[in-house]
Amino acid sequence: MVFPDGFVWGAATAAYQIEGAAAEDGRGPSIWDTFSRVPGNVADGHTGDVACDHYHRYAEDVRLMAGLGLAAYRFSVAWPRILPTGAGQVNAAGLGFYDRLVDELLAHGITPYPTLYHWDLPQALEDAGGWASRDTAARFADFAAVVHERLGDRVRTWTTLNEPWVAAFLGYCSGVHAPGRRDPAAAFRAAHHLLLGHGLAAQALRAAGAAEVALTLNLAPVIQTDDGHQEAARVDALMNRQFLDPALRGRYPEDVLEIAARHGGLDHVRDGDLAVIHQPIDLLGINYYNPSFVSAAPGEPANPAFPGTEGIRFEPPTGPTTAMDWPIEPSGLETLLVRLSRDYPEVGLLVTENGAAFDDHLTGDEVHDKDRIAYLDGHLRAAHAAISAGADLRGYLVWSLLDNFEWAFGYHKRFGIVYVDFETQRRVPKDSALWYRDVIKRNGFMGE
Ligand code: FCB
Repeated sequence: MVFPDGFVWGAATAAYQIEGAAAEDGRGPSIWDTFSRVPGNVADGHTGDVACDHYHRYAEDVRLMAGLGLAAYRFSVAWPRILPTGAGQVNAAGLGFYDRLVDELLAHGITPYPTLYHWDLPQALEDAGGWASRDTAARFADFAAVVHERLGDRVRTWTTLNEPWVAAFLGYCSGVHAPGRRDPAAAFRAAHHLLLGHGLAAQALRAAGAAEVALTLNLAPVIQTDDGHQEAARVDALMNRQFLDPALRGRYPEDVLEIAARHGGLDHVRDGDLAVIHQPIDLLGINYYNPSFVSAAPGEPANPAFPGTEGIRFEPPTGPTTAMDWPIEPSGLETLLVRLSRDYPEVGLLVTENGAAFDDHLTGDEVHDKDRIAYLDGHLRAAHAAISAGADLRGYLVWSLLDNFEWAFGYHKRFGIVYVDFETQRRVPKDSALWYRDVIKRNGFMGE
C-alpha cells in the first residue's frame, strides 16, 4: 500500500495549544487567555500560559520532527503576538519568532504550513464585537498581509482559517470555547464574517504573491441511523456545506439561509460578500476525527452547538471510542474524501488533522500507545482507499505532534505522537511516532 510520489507527510499543532510564553515579547492577550481564566471554563483551570513551552523549545521540537522524517509541519501564527491589540502597531518580536521557526524548519528540510487563525483572536478585537462584528474580517486580512510580508519569501502554502464552524458555533453559540458566548444569532454572523475574513485574506495573500492558498474545515459524514434522511441533510448543511458551498461555489445552502434567517436574520450578508468569499483556493484542508450519527426525534430541542436542529437527536457512539468519547470510524474518512472530490473536483485535498486522544502512560522511556497506532493505521488505509477511488489527496498531517492544551479539556487529553511531561517539559516519542516514522520512510505500508 504505497502512496503517490510526493505525498506530503507531516504533523500539526496550533499556537495557543503549544507555545506558552503568553505574556512574553509583547504578545497581547487573546480570547483564550481570558476564557481559560474564568473558573469552570477549562478542566482544572488549565491555561496556555506555559503549554509545551514551544516558544522557547522550538529548535528542539524541530529536531524531533526531523528525527521522525516529517516533510511538513503545520503550525498556527498567534495573531496577538504579531498585532497585540489585533490591529495597528506591529510587534516585531512576535514576527521574529515565526521567522526563526520557519528558518529552523527549512534548515531541516521541513516545509512550513502556517495557518493564520487557529482560534486565538486578540482580546481587543473581541471587546469590539469579535467575529460577530464585520470589521474583524477586514482586520484579519490586514494581519494576513503583515505575516506574508515577513514570511512570504519562504512559505509557499498559506492556510487562512482553521475550523470556522468550531470558532463560530462553539465560541459564540454553545459557549464551550472562547469567547464563551451563547447567542445563536451572533454565531451565524461569526460564521459569515469568518468566511468573509477568509476571502479577504485570500485576496490579500494572492495580491502579495502567495503561491498557494488553503482553507481548513472540520468535516464529517453525517449518518442517519433511522430510515429518514432529512435530519442528516440538515446537520450536514450546518456543519459541512455552510462552509464548503460559500467558499467553493459562492453560495450558501438554502437550508442554512432559512435557519440563519430564523436566528437573528440575514442583514449581515451583504451584496458582493459571496463573491469575496468564493476565492479560488488550491487546497482544502480537512480535519477529520469521526462521523456524526443522528436520528429523527420529534420534540427534541436543538443541540446547543447546532441552532436549527430541533427534532434531531445526536446519537451517542455505540462502537469503540477514543478518550474523547469520539467514535472510531476510519471508513468515514474515505467516504468524506471521495465525496469532496466528487462534489468539489476543482480543489486539491490535504488532511490537515487526524488523530486520537488515549490515556497514555509513560513506562520508563516509552509509551506503548497501540490504540493510537491502530487508529492512525486505519485512517491511513482509508485515505489510501480514497486515493484509489480517485480522490485528489495530496498529503496527511497527524494531529498532533505533541501532547498539548486540548482547549476546554486542558492538558488531560493527550493527542500527541510525542508524549510531553508537563512538569519537566521532557518529550518522549510514543510508539506511534516510531511507527509513523517507518510509514513515512516507506511512503506507506510495504508488503502488507
Ligand atoms: C480540532 C482542533 C485542534 C484539536 C483537535 C483535537 O478541532 O482544530 O486544535 O483540538 O480538534
